[in-house]
Amino acid sequence: MADLEDRIRRALGRVIDPDLGRSIVELGMVQGLAWNAEKRVVSLTLQLTTPACPLKGHFEREIQARLVEELGEGWRAEVAFSAQTAGGGSTVLPGIRNLLLVGSGKGGVGKSTVAVNLAVALAQQGARVGLLDADIYGPSVPILMGLEHAKPQVVHQDGRPLLLPIAKYGVQVMSLGFLVPAGQATPWRGPMASNTLRQLLVETQWPELDYLIVDMPPGTGDVQLTLAQQFRPQGALIVTTPQQVAVADAEKALTMFQMPLVQVPVLGVIENMAYFWTPQLPERRFYLFGQGGGRQLAEKYGVPFLGEIPLLEEIVLRSDQGVPPALSEGTPLAEAYHRLAGEVARAASRLAYASAPSS
Ligand SMILES: Nc1ncnc2c1ncn2[C@@H]1O[C@H](COP(=O)(O)OP(=O)(O)O)[C@@H](O)[C@H]1O
Ligand SMILES: [Mg+2]
Repeated sequence: MADLEDRIRRALGRVIDPDLGRSIVELGMVQGLAWNAEKRVVSLTLQLTTPACPLKGHFEREIQARLVEELGEGWRAEVAFSAQTAGGGSTVLPGIRNLLLVGSGKGGVGKSTVAVNLAVALAQQGARVGLLDADIYGPSVPILMGLEHAKPQVVHQDGRPLLLPIAKYGVQVMSLGFLVPAGQATPWRGPMASNTLRQLLVETQWPELDYLIVDMPPGTGDVQLTLAQQFRPQGALIVTTPQQVAVADAEKALTMFQMPLVQVPVLGVIENMAYFWTPQLPERRFYLFGQGGGRQLAEKYGVPFLGEIPLLEEIVLRSDQGVPPALSEGTPLAEAYHRLAGEVARAASRLAYASAPSS
């Protein structure tokens, strides 16, 4: 009879990461393996590529099943999780593992709302998250995060002034809105806008982050191109409503990221305001803007469809109060944002893994 350790390892070797197509042993995800033959317990820590991994339950069930299959009934797995977020990191911003741009073609599709709730949900799932409001024409992150009157501190590093991001709801936040009085027009010209944004990004003292979510200005102009080219982000997320005019503009944003001189990997498409839902008619969904526009866009370009968020009054109310609905644990809406965050993290991990030099 093979020795117990071999059998445990053999069982674990049959647990496959569905995204990467290899076993958790081969991928080096199994750590701190220990067992007690008398009590029939195997304990281990599974090192994930993101704390927001939506596959935790899957792994736990698989490990349990494969152990019982190999060792017999009565054996129990105790699985703990830890995470080392995968991500290449940018050469310009070395402490940031994943710089993720949230873009859309059209304004008003809910890009900022998605970016904010995504950041909050990722942070709640244990990731270190920053949020940069790059919509210098209409910064809305200060309102959405309840930071309307916040002023970032300035610190000096090697004689250079740097801004400290403001921590709220577990997220490190920076916005031009903190520096320019609310309501003041910001008539940026192209190069000036790009420079301002670059400055905001590099002159902020970001701590080490798993994800820096960037709420981009709408459109496909200079600012978007410059940011994409200068900072080599790990990925872009495209937000659209199902409405055809919004989808057409989102398509332009998507193809801009895929241009040969830009080449930002598109992590996927998010459909916002997918349908209207109200507690008064809970069994009905109203497809005000048509159905499936986001999914069709994703399919057309062979990128993942990451999820949909309904059109809800609750989102408007909570957003105006500066309390992102992703915070309200246990509500269906918070769950939708958390699911979305899991899918985004998963897409980023998959990509980081695919583009990493194989060892
Ligand atoms: N899923 C949603 N349901 C209801 N209202 C939403 C939803 N997403 C965004 N909104 C609202 O739509 C408006 C525009 O959203 P915003 O995030 O500022 O869009 P963008 O950044 O694309 O211009 C805001 O008033 C916001 O509260
Ligand atoms: Mg916005």
